[in-house]
Amino acid sequence: MTTSARPQFSPFSKNAKADVCIIGAGIAGLTTAYLLGRAGRSVIVLDDGPIGSGETERTTAHLAIALDDRYFELERLHGEDGAWLAAQSHSAAIDRIERIVIAEQINCGFERVNGYLFAPPGSSIKDLERELAATHRAGITGTELIAQCPLNSFDTGPTLRFTRQAQFHPLQYMAALSQAIIRDGGCIHTQTHVVKIEGGESARIQTREGLVVTADAVVVATNSPVNDVLAIHTKQASYRTFVIGASVPAGSVPKALYWDTEDPYHYVRLHSLPSTELSAGATDLLIVGGEDHKTGQADDAEERYLRLERWARARFPMITEVPFRWSGQVVEPVDGLAFIGRNPLDGKNVYVATGFSGNGMTYGTIAGMLLTDLIQGNENPWAILYEPSRKTLQAAMKFAKETLNLAAQYADWVTKGDVENHAQIPPGTGAIVRRGLEKIAAYCDPSGVMHECSAVCPHLGGIVAWNHSEETWDCPCHGSRFDKFGKVLNGPAITNLRELKDL
Ligand SMILES: Cc1cc2nc3c(=O)[nH]c(=O)nc-3n(C[C@H](O)[C@H](O)[C@H](O)COP(=O)(O)OP(=O)(O)OC[C@H]3O[C@@H](n4cnc5c(N)ncnc54)[C@H](O)[C@@H]3O)c2cc1C
Ligand code: FES
Repeated sequence: MTTSARPQFSPFSKNAKADVCIIGAGIAGLTTAYLLGRAGRSVIVLDDGPIGSGETERTTAHLAIALDDRYFELERLHGEDGAWLAAQSHSAAIDRIERIVIAEQINCGFERVNGYLFAPPGSSIKDLERELAATHRAGITGTELIAQCPLNSFDTGPTLRFTRQAQFHPLQYMAALSQAIIRDGGCIHTQTHVVKIEGGESARIQTREGLVVTADAVVVATNSPVNDVLAIHTKQASYRTFVIGASVPAGSVPKALYWDTEDPYHYVRLHSLPSTELSAGATDLLIVGGEDHKTGQADDAEERYLRLERWARARFPMITEVPFRWSGQVVEPVDGLAFIGRNPLDGKNVYVATGFSGNGMTYGTIAGMLLTDLIQGNENPWAILYEPSRKTLQAAMKFAKETLNLAAQYADWVTKGDVENHAQIPPGTGAIVRRGLEKIAAYCDPSGVMHECSAVCPHLGGIVAWNHSEETWDCPCHGSRFDKFGKVLNGPAITNLRELKDL
């Protein structure tokens, strides 16, 4: 965010028509719009914020074929053919990004790098050996088990090396995609919140101001679909993940992608920054992520950042300072694969792209390729694999675990508030207060003025929790998030927390 200018677009101000309306200008939405535009379709993209202002601006942008759920696990869940198709689609996505970068002459630091997967000290390497064999069966023939990562600062032990992974600057890429969309005749409108999506003969997309886009098809690329109440949200869960950006001397850490197999795992890469952004002598930024927790179910970000820093300093003693830290949200599907295609229980012309785990850069690109084919009536070999209505029986255990966790969150309806009364809420923070049968989300601003709204999430009635680090209200059920005044930030909720007068 500090190193990329973002093109500005105007809000949607007049009813309009297009072949396809796309909601969400993250990597999934803009890639879909770009590819449809190249195919000669007219597109209108609508987004709440500036382009890329969802999770795409928070990503660490590893472009990897190595997936969060191991290939041996994908084989168990989707068979050898499924794992093969998954590998093929992610590899094709990196190739497609590379081709777009070349064709559009995008200056976004795209480069091919190796990726290294290693186990924590003292743990068995059995899973690495299983993964090596599974990747070969999935057609990733370049993987190899080597003695250790090419790092001098710590001994990773045996490591699985993936060749031809990649990295880039996601916002510089998004900026160029948006300009190409406009060049090809598409429209992008930001600061435009969509409140209603109806499929059918002609899809209708309504904004908060009551304006309407009509289109032959609509793509909901909002990271967590805002048009789906239940069908998909029972099959995926939202997690917060944390990142630090640490200064290291130029060239002291070899440029590559690094991952361990802890749960949650650590993910590391290197990014060169202009020296003005960092302390003297340090021109590389070591980006280290991990420490995930389920959204709305923990409020200890400070400790997580410190643990992340301790983990990084122990392995990379050349770190001088930690000038950046941030968190974001990833959506984990129960059966290890994204949901991309027609939205179940919806009009035939309503499409979604979600469940990207920590592989959303490639999944967002796969979504662009797959949805462009589906909308144009073309066959695509990945369509069945990513079909949103699929039910994977082999994932029943994980599904049951997530369902139990979800059910437990509704106990918050009968518990006490976080505090007895407003006087106990320090300025600049928020807390849940019980008032009779109602639970109130109360935020005390720095000048001591109290702002209240209902604590009941408008998606399916979860009770939101205060997130001190982000100063947001986060729902522990399916990951909706709201700013301190109750304005919706993240789906699946599509509306704000209710004002007290509406209760
Ligand atoms: C910290 C972190 C690290 C990550 N690291 C990696 C990585 O290394 N590699 C990788 O491949 N992936 C990674 N991911 C995942 C990846 O960043 C995401 O999966 C991806 O960016 C999601 O893109 P998207 O287009 O689906 O959604 P988003 O980028 O979230 O875009 C959705 C857009 O929809 C808009 N929107 C939502 N609701 C509405 C509405 N009602 N009306 C109008 N607009 C709306 C939002 O404003 C937003 O701009 C990481 C994620 C995080 C958080
Ligand atoms: S996100 Fe589903 S109930 Fe809040």
